[in-house]
Amino acid sequence: MATSLRKPTFNSCPSSSTETDDEGVRGTCEDASICKRFAVSIGYWDDPYIQHLVRPSKERKAPEINRGYFARVHGINQLTKAFLQKTECHCQVINLGAGMDTTFWILKDQDLLPSKYFEVDFPMIVTRKLQSIKFKPLLSKPILELHSEDTFQIDGHMLDSKRYAIIGADLRDLSELEEKLKKCNMNTQLPTLLITECVLVYMTPEQSANLIKWAANSFGTAMFINYEQVNMDDRFGQIMIEHLRRRQCDLAGVETCKSLESQKERLLSNGWETASAMNMMELYSKLPRTEVSRFGGDHLLTFSRLMLSQKLQPLTFLKLIYKSPE
Ligand SMILES: C[S@@+](CC[C@H](N)C(=O)[O-])C[C@H]1O[C@@H](n2cnc3c(N)ncnc32)[C@H](O)[C@@H]1O
Repeated sequence: MATSLRKPTFNSCPSSSTETDDEGVRGTCEDASICKRFAVSIGYWDDPYIQHLVRPSKERKAPEINRGYFARVHGINQLTKAFLQKTECHCQVINLGAGMDTTFWILKDQDLLPSKYFEVDFPMIVTRKLQSIKFKPLLSKPILELHSEDTFQIDGHMLDSKRYAIIGADLRDLSELEEKLKKCNMNTQLPTLLITECVLVYMTPEQSANLIKWAANSFGTAMFINYEQVNMDDRFGQIMIEHLRRRQCDLAGVETCKSLESQKERLLSNGWETASAMNMMELYSKLPRTEVSRFGGDHLLTFSRLMLSQKLQPLTFLKLIYKSPE
């Protein structure tokens, strides 16, 4: 049902067996966002919006976790900004498995909004995020300000406005995904940045390959930023798998998370022309020293298993982004 944001009606989500099966995967949204909120609360980076979407952490997080999240957020932000600058914001961003991501609001503050910013996640996660947007003016006002009309489409699993859309859909169902994105005016002619931040690992290799192939075939000019694990064959990786399995969260895509090479290969064999990847140790070593020294120096980190891989066609600016610090 469609109604306005100012007076929206909210339908609760129906529950089904698939939704129950995916509960462990959806739980990872809370894990990631609570860690980010904690790091923000102790000054790792600025994000005035996250506290309106995410509950505070019950316990302190270890410095390695905070630094890992800092590097992860910083890395993805740098690549996103480079894409926006290169396209002069005449582009769209599609954040797949966005969870409680706040990039839309931050980009608006920085005057760096793309033509349209899309988020996709499971309907239940979207419903929760929509509840916060609906009741927190700090979140809803920026969306309304950018919207030329008085009303816009909103229901329990979706909000569509001029510059921002959030869609409840299962990324494993590509026809549903495409149909919903098109309904929200996704423009396949615009340069498009697709982001999956710790998302593909929860799908089987076949499902993530299909999603990557769909992305490669759907847009004339596109870049894909993927952030997820590597080196999952080692002891640390095995502990991570066992820990998540105990919480009913299966890392169905772990096979692809062997190495930077296997990550790049997945992109290259599914329609993308070039791919590059770096592990987080390397990325961390290239962070501005002024930033790193703010939170305790250059200690060796334990997140070398995480990686960022990017693919772009035909823009070629990525190598410029991570220059060594002076
Ligand atoms: C680890 S969280 C990361 C959230 C966010 N990208 C971040 O980094 O803060 C993984 C997210 O992917 C979403 N997700 C995983 N599989 C999905 C699927 N098949 N369809 C839609 N969303 C999915 C989960 O619901 C969750 O929000």
